[in-house]
Amino acid sequence: MARFKVGVVGGGNVGATVAQRVAERDLADVILTDIVEGLPQGKTLDLCQASGVDNYGVRLKGSNSVEDLKGCDVVVVTAGLPRKPGMTREDLIDKNAAIVGSVAEAVRKNSPDAILVMVTNPLDIMTYLASSITRFPRNRVVGMAGVLDSARFAYFIAEKLDVSPKDIRAMVLGGHGDAMVPLPRYSTVNGVPITELMSREDIDALVRRTANGGAEIVALLKAGSAYYAPGSSVTQMVESILKNERRLLPCACILEGEYGLSKTCIGVPAILGRNGVEKVVELKLSSDETALLKKSAAEVTKGLQHLKLG
Ligand code: NAI
Ligand code: 2OP
Repeated sequence: MARFKVGVVGGGNVGATVAQRVAERDLADVILTDIVEGLPQGKTLDLCQASGVDNYGVRLKGSNSVEDLKGCDVVVVTAGLPRKPGMTREDLIDKNAAIVGSVAEAVRKNSPDAILVMVTNPLDIMTYLASSITRFPRNRVVGMAGVLDSARFAYFIAEKLDVSPKDIRAMVLGGHGDAMVPLPRYSTVNGVPITELMSREDIDALVRRTANGGAEIVALLKAGSAYYAPGSSVTQMVESILKNERRLLPCACILEGEYGLSKTCIGVPAILGRNGVEKVVELKLSSDETALLKKSAAEVTKGLQHLKLG
């Protein structure tokens, strides 16, 4: 049986980690592309040499040509600049919009049936931009951020309660920015809401640390941003799509009226399956949570207007 093919555009820290995770789970053959000559070829050769040790049989290839994206089932876009200390994700908007614009055009030409998983920041804005350039139906363009932000929230909850991270289910909605919306009510330790297990003050502190989660790592690394947890988060989405698992994951989706929002892209719970976003799930939010989501959406709108997309 033919294997799935995943294209990863951008062979830097996140892209190479996605290639590694996809291979280690034997999910699909991987084509890793980058504009830097030798970089994707070197990284994929290195990963191929690990295949016997780590026991995977998929093929990996590096390339500098977008034409090699032909026939991909999923294309993950990580091409673009990461943050430096002191920068917000929004500071990346103009440079990354130029890169994502050309990549989206290449995906449209070379892999017109693929499902596009966006990673480049500012995430919600780049996802909307890619959707407007490819003109793919909205189920086939989705952004990764909510899985990562929720994973961070989950880890901080586990650390605070001194319990296994395996038992935490956390939910973070909204844009992938300082105004993201962690939802303590929907975050549990094996079904027990954290609101039963922690004080309001402790939850507020974890919510703040989650919203600052990316910046905390940027400040420590001093050059570049996080990539292990981002790579794992992308791979979870890719796996749900390729295996038609229909997992309910927070993803950046193009909205057409859901949550009272249209012509925008923001993190909401979605069911991911073989058609990409199978369904956007509308939770009943409290008035406070709705206000936070609208505030977060307003931040995304500012970026879209800056790019004349909103
Ligand atoms: P990196 O600098 O390690 O890698 C980026 C790669 O993109 C470089 O190798 C560069 O040569 C390549 N590139 C630039 N223009 C290209 C083009 N036109 N075609 C193909 N490749 C091109 O950066 P890293 O850490 O991998 O991050 C990538 C992006 O992902 C950044 O914008 C970062 O902010 C974002 N990010 C988003 C996350 C999220 O939750 N959505 C999480 C982590 C990173
Ligand atoms: C993160 O949250 C930089 O968006 C990236 O780590």
